[in-house]
Amino acid sequence: MTSPARIVVLPGDGIGPEVTDAARRVLDAAAAPAGLQLDYVTDLVGGASVDAHGVALRPQTLRLCKTADAILFGAVGGPRWDDAAPQSAVRPGSALLGLRKGLELFANLRPVRVDPAMVATSALRPERVRDVDLLVVRELTGGLYFSKPKRRYDTPRGQAAVDTMRYSTPEIERVAVRAFELARQRRRRLCSVDKANVLETSRLWRTVVTAVGQRYPDVTTTHLLVDAFAMELLRRPQAFDVVVTENLFGDILTDEASMLAGALGMLPSASLGGGTLGLYEPIHGSAPDIAGKGIANPIGAILSAALLLRWSLNNEDAAQAIERAVSRALAAGLRTADIAADDRAPVSTSEMADAIVGGID
Ligand SMILES: NC(=O)c1ccc[n+]([C@@H]2O[C@H](COP(=O)([O-])OP(=O)(O)OC[C@H]3O[C@@H](n4cnc5c(N)ncnc54)[C@H](O)[C@@H]3O)[C@@H](O)[C@H]2O)c1
Repeated sequence: MTSPARIVVLPGDGIGPEVTDAARRVLDAAAAPAGLQLDYVTDLVGGASVDAHGVALRPQTLRLCKTADAILFGAVGGPRWDDAAPQSAVRPGSALLGLRKGLELFANLRPVRVDPAMVATSALRPERVRDVDLLVVRELTGGLYFSKPKRRYDTPRGQAAVDTMRYSTPEIERVAVRAFELARQRRRRLCSVDKANVLETSRLWRTVVTAVGQRYPDVTTTHLLVDAFAMELLRRPQAFDVVVTENLFGDILTDEASMLAGALGMLPSASLGGGTLGLYEPIHGSAPDIAGKGIANPIGAILSAALLLRWSLNNEDAAQAIERAVSRALAAGLRTADIAADDRAPVSTSEMADAIVGGID
């Protein structure tokens, strides 16, 4: 018998625990028929960890994650910590940055698919969103979010602040390789997004992606400037297959892309490094405005559990079973409040999870 897979669950703050609980129930329901055994260890992270331990991410939590097969993550942050101490070094979000850097999770994969049942209620016209199926690969451990110097300082004319965008050839190369490999498993098209007309880091990005692309002659490579891509993503989203981009651009563009899928609460993500260890989380935040009400959309977290099965546990059948069950629940007309149509009462987080559990075949 194979040993159980070790899953570290980090629910975090706000709606994090609610959607993570739903995802875990669905994960269990899909794992059992696939003969997969899962061992869970749960720990505090983000604001919950600040309250209990004074830091957003304890070293032992990071060590625990290093020994895991996969991490199921909720969301971190909230006004209690963000607004109370905007200058504080102890910020809930630093937990995520610490995990990404500490586990070297340099590629963030964000699949954007528009479920057929959601086409009619999209903010865009049906013909624009039907059959959208793209995968954004966002660089996750470099660029403006991590590079130094990064600080605020006093000048004779008031305060000034600096952030730094730095990228090296190996950093770009490894995420580009990941993106080209994924393109090979899909429709063999890769679009690299940068700002090469202005930024030096983007000119290096384009040079390196072009060079890596020469090793993948079967993949068609294109380059678009980020402003043009932001427009094309709404004008002709079906044209894209794999999109690779740097950290900040990827962060912004995937929130835009979430509107194709219906809402922020619908989209999953996977953060991967060189091996199979991955961190799986919905792309949304802790949604403090609806936390504790039981109305959060758990689909982004549930689809993240499907990605966990696919990319860390190598179980495509179980991953697809979850994706089919989500489609069934949507086709049956179930909607949480964020995606509700006017004519039907929305369901709660747990009712949506129950329906998806029931739809696992
Ligand atoms: N990965 C993360 O942990 C992460 C990501 C983004 C923001 N945050 C943090 O979350 C907090 C709130 O940030 P924000 O308000 O800018 O973004 P958010 O994603 O938490 O919420 C934006 C809006 O979308 C709604 N929403 C988000 N997810 C939803 C879901 N699953 N179901 C229904 N509605 C949903 C919220 O109610 C809110 O109106 C901040 O502290 C921020 O730093 C954390």
